[in-house]
Amino acid sequence: MAAAHVEALLASYPDFPQPNILFRDLNPVFADAVAFRAIIDDLADQHRGQFDAVAGIEARGFLLAAAVGYAANAAVLAVRKGGKLPGTVLIEEYDLEYGSARLELEVGQLSAGTRVLILDDVLATGGTIAATSRLIERAGYTLTGVGVVLELTDLHGRERLGTAPVHAIMSI
Ligand code: PRP
Repeated sequence: MAAAHVEALLASYPDFPQPNILFRDLNPVFADAVAFRAIIDDLADQHRGQFDAVAGIEARGFLLAAAVGYAANAAVLAVRKGGKLPGTVLIEEYDLEYGSARLELEVGQLSAGTRVLILDDVLATGGTIAATSRLIERAGYTLTGVGVVLELTDLHGRERLGTAPVHAIMSI
């Protein structure tokens, strides 16, 4: 079961990347082949039949989106940090648990109304996924779901998101 793998392998680092932040590291989950397959299958299965494309958020969301996209025969969109994409891009600024950031999405990659599943490793304050949701909608796509490996419930990020179903493999 995917949640058991995450619980067993999740690492936590106090005061990283700055004091008073407890950093949750999912790299040990990605580094375990059985656990990685379990989380990819879980994310694909939870939203099966409800999406035509996956949007992965830089950086760890890319790992999830590539694998789920392959598993589900879905297109893959890369939502990147500011200044990385060429051409015409949509831009959203957002606040992080620590600091602020900018996300971008190239326009015109998919047809209007394409059903998109957003994927990322962690849902914390929700700012990152909320900004990505705005990018997806501004691009003319339809957000049909959000999938994360880990939700940090005390930060109430889910409350900042819209009505699309949010699936977290594990919540703490
Ligand atoms: C982390 C994580 C999520 C985001 C969640 O990424 O991978 O994308 O924070 O935080 P939020 O719900 O409070 O917005 P980070 O910004 O550290 O970037 P990185 O993936 O480049 O390390």
